[in-house]
This record gives sequence, structure tokens and C-alpha cells, in this order.
Amino acid sequence: MKIAILKERRDGETRVAATPESVKKLIAAGHDIQIEKGAGDNASMPDSLYEAVGAKTGTLAATLKGADVVYAVRTPDAETLAKLPKGCLLVGQLEPHGDKAQAKAFADAGINALAMEFTPRITRAQAMDALSSQSNLAGYRAVIEASQIYHRAFPMMMTAAGTIAAAKAFVMGAGVAGLQAIATARRLGAVVTATDVRPAAKEQVASLGAKFVAVEDEEFKAAETAGGYAKEMSKEYQAKQAELVASHIAKQDVVITTALIPGRPAPRLITKAMVEAMRPGSVIVDIAAPMGGNCELTKADEIVEHNGVSIAGYSNLPGRLAADASSLYARNLVNLTPLLVGEDGALAPHWDDEIIVGMTLTRDGKVVHETLK
Ligand code: NAI
Repeated sequence: MKIAILKERRDGETRVAATPESVKKLIAAGHDIQIEKGAGDNASMPDSLYEAVGAKTGTLAATLKGADVVYAVRTPDAETLAKLPKGCLLVGQLEPHGDKAQAKAFADAGINALAMEFTPRITRAQAMDALSSQSNLAGYRAVIEASQIYHRAFPMMMTAAGTIAAAKAFVMGAGVAGLQAIATARRLGAVVTATDVRPAAKEQVASLGAKFVAVEDEEFKAAETAGGYAKEMSKEYQAKQAELVASHIAKQDVVITTALIPGRPAPRLITKAMVEAMRPGSVIVDIAAPMGGNCELTKADEIVEHNGVSIAGYSNLPGRLAADASSLYARNLVNLTPLLVGEDGALAPHWDDEIIVGMTLTRDGKVVHETLK
């Protein structure tokens, strides 16, 4: 089948949906790859590297000509969408949660759309799970960003001139991003604590050498959905959690927040008053910024300073590691590709496979995803 890779047009999007490595694999599997010129420029992957492994590079029109499938990092802009061949399959991180208007637009345009965010959390789909591949890098990068903003060192240092204390880092939300943030902060020498509302997180946090801090009541014991995600917690739980966080956070130097509930605004875990209780020089990196932030003072794509505390709200942390983020994302797509073709290698999505069922937003001019109908 013909696979088109677009140049991402969204502001600040540095990633690309194919790498020379993924192109090589897709070509070996019998597919033709057409890449828009410059698609990999911001991820240190110039056209020449794609051409060297057998991809054709060209204009947007040439790239889309005859395309069966379009692989994208994010939803293409309206102008590009209008140029997609009718009946083609669009696969990307389409921010599908609750966006009925977008789903209808795909259906009206005759685009069959698959959202990577809806990859089911089953073992067989792990290698295709873009939320995990990108969150992992976001967790790492958040700590690296924090270390740049923080005016002190992370590890304890005993020097002839005296001792520097280790930084205290607190990770809120111990899912994929949070666990990587814990591991990274530990590697840099910080003393790390972490919290979550899912009981499964407790053991995972401990296994990384961090201390688990949480309100462990009856509600906590039932906070994980069958899909592995967190539920939205009750007002009572939130109040108990806020009390615990308030006393803990006042003693922290670095806070990485990652708490998310799929399709909902990010839970508010850090209030302005809590920020005001922190030491000047402390740093909060809010990974949940694109979903409204876990901290009341977070502003997307800004580093806000409040009473000497910096709150960083990067909205595309994986994009700050464009080459690695693109590599992992492109591999997610390579791993998905066998579910999109028939035995002869032509486009024939396995519409009945539970992975494809979970991801499909639109098909043959209709919105088919249960949550978007
Ligand atoms: P996520 O990005 O939706 O949320 C991040 C974290 O925030 C979660 O751990 C969640 O429990 C936590 N959180 C939500 N509300 C909170 C609150 N009020 N206070 C504190 N923490 C809160 O979740 P993510 O990282 O995408 O995945 C969660 C879990 O799903 C993973 O730890 C893993 O166990 C499972 N998973 C399974 C996969 C598979 O089997 N294919 C693939 C990836 C993850």
C-alpha cells in the first residue's frame, strides 16, 4: 500500500511520523513510502536519509497522490485534510476525546480515521501504544527541564567547602510518565517521593526506590478502571488528598506533575496557596499542562514565576526530544501496520480486531466510535 508521511504543521510540533529506520521496515514489508519534503527536518532527519532507504520525497500534493494511508503525529490542519484522498486511512494522535465535531468532519470528508490515543491497553497492543511511548519520554524530559530551571544541584555533594543537600523531588501521578520521572530524578541523585490514586502504583513507585505518599482509603482501593486508567476522585477524596499534598509539597524542591484522567480536564492537585508555601527557587514542571494543568498557576508553554517558585507548562515535552520521540512513535506505527493490510499487502484494515475497533473514529463516511456518535 502507499503510505504518505506529512510534514507536521502545528506550531511547535517537531516530531515526524516516520524515520529512516521505520521507512526501511515498511519498504521491506512491501509498501511504498511518500514523504513530504522537510518532514523530518526538525527531528534531525533530513530528506536525504529517507531517500537513501528508498522513500520518495516531494510536495504535499505529490505525497498525497494515491495514498492509501496517511501517518501523522497530530491532526493535520483543515487545508491539508481537505487534500487527503477520499477513502484514505488517517492514523495519528488525533486528540479524539469528546471531539464530535472533528469526528464528523473526518466522516464528511470520507476519511477513515484511527486515533492512536484509543489504542486499547492490552498486552498485544503495547508495542503500538503511542501514549506510553511518548509519556515515557515526557517524564524523562520533565526532570531534565526541571534541572535546568532549578538553581541547585540534584545530588548530595560532600565537598571540601561543605555539603550540598540532595534535592527533594515529588512526582504526582505515577503512570508511565511519572515512573520515568521518578527513575530520572533518582538517577540524578534526588530524594524522590511520589503519589497516585491507583493502588497498583504503590509497588511500582517502591520498586524504583521512591517513597509512596497517598491517601489510601477505600476509594483509593477502587480507583483503577479495567482499562488501567484512574477514575475521577470524589470531592471528599480530593479534600483529603489536598491536605496531604499541602504539607508534603512545602518541603519539596522539585515537583513533577503528570496526573491525567482520559478525556477529562487534568485534576487540580496544586493550588496557589500550596505554591506559596514552597521555598523560593523550587520548580514545578506540569506535564498535564495540555489538559489544563495539575497546578492552578500553570500556563501552557510558559514558565510562570510566583513568589520565586517556577512553574513550567511545556505542552509538548516529547517534542523536545524530537528524534527519540519520532523514532518510538514511528515504531508504534510500524507495529500497527500489519493490522491495516490483507495477506497481499494491500490496504484492508482488520476492522473486527479489538485494537482496530478501539481506535476507529470514522469509517465509510460514518462516525463509528461509541463515544463520538
Ligand atoms: P495517565 O497518563 O492517564 O495518568 C497518569 C497518572 O496520573 C496515572 O497513574 C493516574 O493514576 C494518575 N492520576 C490520575 N488522577 C490522579 C489524582 N487525582 N492524583 C494523583 N494521581 C492521579 O496514565 P498512564 O500513565 O497512561 O497509564 C496508567 C497505567 O496504565 C500505567 O501505569 C499502566 O499500569 C497502565 N498501562 C498499561 C498498558 C498496557 O497494558 N498496554 C500500556 C500503558 C499503561
